[in-house]
Amino acid sequence: MLEKIEHLKVEIENLTASSPEEVEALRIKYLSKKGEISALMNDFRALSGEEKRTLGAPLNQLKDFATEKIASLRESLENKEVDAAAFDMTRSAAPMRLGTRHPLSVVRNEIVSIFSRLGFSIAEGPEIEDDWHVFSSLNFAADHPARDMQDTFFIQRNPDVLLRTHTSSVQSRVMEKTQPPIRIICPGRVYRNEAISARAHCFFHQVEALYVDEHVSFADLKQTLLYFAREMFGPDTKIRLRPSYFPFTEPSAEMDISCNLCGGKGCSFCKHTGWVEILGCGMVDPNVLDACGIDSKKYSGFALGMGVERITNLKYQVKDLRMFSENDTRFLREFTAAH
Ligand code: DAH
Repeated sequence: MLEKIEHLKVEIENLTASSPEEVEALRIKYLSKKGEISALMNDFRALSGEEKRTLGAPLNQLKDFATEKIASLRESLENKEVDAAAFDMTRSAAPMRLGTRHPLSVVRNEIVSIFSRLGFSIAEGPEIEDDWHVFSSLNFAADHPARDMQDTFFIQRNPDVLLRTHTSSVQSRVMEKTQPPIRIICPGRVYRNEAISARAHCFFHQVEALYVDEHVSFADLKQTLLYFAREMFGPDTKIRLRPSYFPFTEPSAEMDISCNLCGGKGCSFCKHTGWVEILGCGMVDPNVLDACGIDSKKYSGFALGMGVERITNLKYQVKDLRMFSENDTRFLREFTAAH
């Protein structure tokens, strides 16, 4: 009987069917009351207790195996029918959904491209930094508040490891390794220990520019800024420089552009002043040049730094900074037309 069971198992394993009727015929042949497995079951009843003990399990397995096989034959035929009906050779291909560039990448690329037309090339530095490159080399006094834990994410003290709070750190990294002429643009992510809200985030993006050579003057800085503002915001854009203070530049200034929403007439966006602030800049402090191994008697330079989120908000009026990092595709798809 065991031989018969094994023989049937191989036979059933190799069964095929090309229509539901054929499947039904197979079911009757093996599993109906008069089928081959039922016949074996009847024989089984007449066996002695000893034989029943050895043959019971294989016989039951055979029955389960046949039931499953018939069910799977039936199922694969049903699937085939569905497939055939769904296949329409005349239908045009479904359009592929293309992703969009992130608005911050669009604006960063535009900033970089404007400066590269003036001969600046990209320089990058690490986001995980040390005190020297972020603060000390840039003329920050030991007790400058920006070094405070409340602004800076410190990872470790002694040796100090921190997240850079501005891309100005790339300036000192490049100046340490390169002698002038230096003309670099440094895009990158920066971190500050701020509570996250619509107007502030614990990380954001900056682009820094640095030009060091013989006889670089404030007039060069001003002309570069004017070129940048007009390329970025349109040919009618005006600029205004206000005196300011940064440890690494002397003199320092902040640059405003004529409000690109009202054209300078005054609106709620520019708080009715007609001007909006977009970046910080100045002549590189001689202390910074010397700290980085560049002869401040021979060379001078200018630097400027801007927030990419700020420029993006001006261009696209994004009201809530958090939108930039939430990856909501409804927001990102708004920028499909941007390049
Ligand atoms: N590092 C400044 C900041 O994070 C931005 C800045 C201002 C960069 C003036 C400069 C500069 O290079 O000259 O707020």
